[in-house]
Amino acid sequence: MTQDEMKQAVARAAIDYVVAGEIIGVGTGSTANFFIDELGKIKDRIKGAVASSEATAERLRGHGIPVFDLNDIDTMSVYIDGADEITAQGAMIKGGGAALTREKIVASVAKQFVCIADGSKLVDKLGAFPLPVEVIPMAQAVVARKLAALGGEPRLRVKDGKPVVTDNGCYIIDVLGLQIQDPAALEAQINDIVGVVTVGLFARRGANIGLLGTADGVKRLN
Ligand code: 5RP
Repeated sequence: MTQDEMKQAVARAAIDYVVAGEIIGVGTGSTANFFIDELGKIKDRIKGAVASSEATAERLRGHGIPVFDLNDIDTMSVYIDGADEITAQGAMIKGGGAALTREKIVASVAKQFVCIADGSKLVDKLGAFPLPVEVIPMAQAVVARKLAALGGEPRLRVKDGKPVVTDNGCYIIDVLGLQIQDPAALEAQINDIVGVVTVGLFARRGANIGLLGTADGVKRLN
């Protein structure tokens, strides 16, 4: 089974967590894209979706799924998204697709966060995947110095020789080599650095349900 087949299988399994007649929060990335494709098949059973990125909004609309503005929604039953790393307890690193801020915002409105990932994303300890931190562009250098003081190696995310710009007009610093002993404490500590928009640690509010696509089928984590 390929990694994409595992992502597809877990995306299909996540459809069981979609509540009929409601608005669903939808994440960003290749696993979320497979989920959107599955959601398209049952679009008549839902009211619509809130997107965590422009790319996700575009894909949802491509399937004829109405996209709602988060400001018009009070609450959501479920938010479904992938992860770069997840622990058995549901703490995650996210932001490999640079959508971490909107992902955290949409997830905060949902009663349940369902994480969908292929089995390679399950880790005992977070941190082998470089930790994404979204920053205000003018604060990039000062934030990088503070992240280095925490023991990490900050690298501005660059594509085609230019800084990657998020949907929010900000930059991403990827932090390598952090020893993440206490993910919730580090999340709070990095969030407190002036100039940081969002850190890609999702630990204070992690996944309520983790679904992993493996060669032996889809397994539920928690
Ligand atoms: C985007 C994310 C994604 O959920 C994460 O990068 C996983 O992506 P993929 O499903 O492509 O492996 O956090 O910001």
